[in-house]
Amino acid sequence: MSDTNIIFRVNDIESVPATAFTVLVNRKQVQACAGETVLNLLFALDMRSISTINCGQQVGAYCGMGVCFSCTVCIDGIENQRACQRMVKEGMNIQTHCNRLCEAEIRSGLA
Ligand code: FES
Repeated sequence: MSDTNIIFRVNDIESVPATAFTVLVNRKQVQACAGETVLNLLFALDMRSISTINCGQQVGAYCGMGVCFSCTVCIDGIENQRACQRMVKEGMNIQTHCNRLCEAEIRSGLA
């Protein structure tokens, strides 16, 4: 696999343990660690802009504890999952900046 299909972690305090597993973030392979949230993983990848709200503005996580809904991502095909509230699992497929309402509007020609 070429490096263009991999995103490397850049913001870890400690090195990634040998027990790390692979997940997909925006269709690219990423090492993830048991016990971390999806939001922690995205921060480790230096991703601050996580979600796109209905008007098209990009936003990042705000509260980190499940209240603000500013960190919504699509996980395994289910949209509007709060990244700060979901633990990573091996093989998980995470998509940032997906917004069903905007995509539906674009398809229907309303946007
Ligand atoms: S950061 Fe506020 S709900 Fe996730």
